[in-house]
Amino acid sequence: MRTLHRHAASDADMEAIGAALARSARRGCRIALAGPLAAGKTTLARGYVRARGHAGAVKSPTFTLVESYPLDGGAVHHFDLYRLADAEELEFIGIDDYFDGQADVLVEWPARGAGVLPLPDLEIAITVAGTARELSLAFGDEAWAERFEAELIQ
Ligand SMILES: Nc1ncnc2c1ncn2[C@@H]1O[C@H](COP(=O)(O)OP(=O)(O)OP(=O)(O)O)[C@@H](O)[C@H]1O
Ligand SMILES: [Mg+2]
Repeated sequence: MRTLHRHAASDADMEAIGAALARSARRGCRIALAGPLAAGKTTLARGYVRARGHAGAVKSPTFTLVESYPLDGGAVHHFDLYRLADAEELEFIGIDDYFDGQADVLVEWPARGAGVLPLPDLEIAITVAGTARELSLAFGDEAWAERFEAELIQ
């Protein structure tokens, strides 16, 4: 386990952090994105999905629960569980088919799925400080943390 702290002064910084995560991740990774409304979770996910090669829009999955991107090198699934009434709903939608070990999975509001949602490899907690954001990134895999830092400074 290795925890890193990063400051994001703007949307662009938040997207750059998402992009560096995408470039340093192993396929099949599971990322939990916690933080209050408008913390920048979707903004980070947008940087991630674009860096994985998606050229189009990256919409918030607030109403659809999940947006899936079939990309070269493996799919990315982006969940937003804000509107989930009960974690068991995840079983009805076949959550295990998304967490298949091949696709990368990013989950906003992961606490809403506690008990059913598979455990993450990386837990990101975002706090808001005016227009800036503070991120704490807890990596289960120290090697990923090191690759991420190397990608950020490039
Ligand atoms: N430093 C920053 N990083 C990220 N977003 C920022 C920053 N400063 C301002 N913002 C703004 O905050 C909002 C973040 O929205 P975003 O949809 O990414 O948040 P979210 O955490 O996904 O919210 P929700 O819980 O509603 O899904 C955007 O309007 C963005 O422009
Ligand atoms: Mg969001």
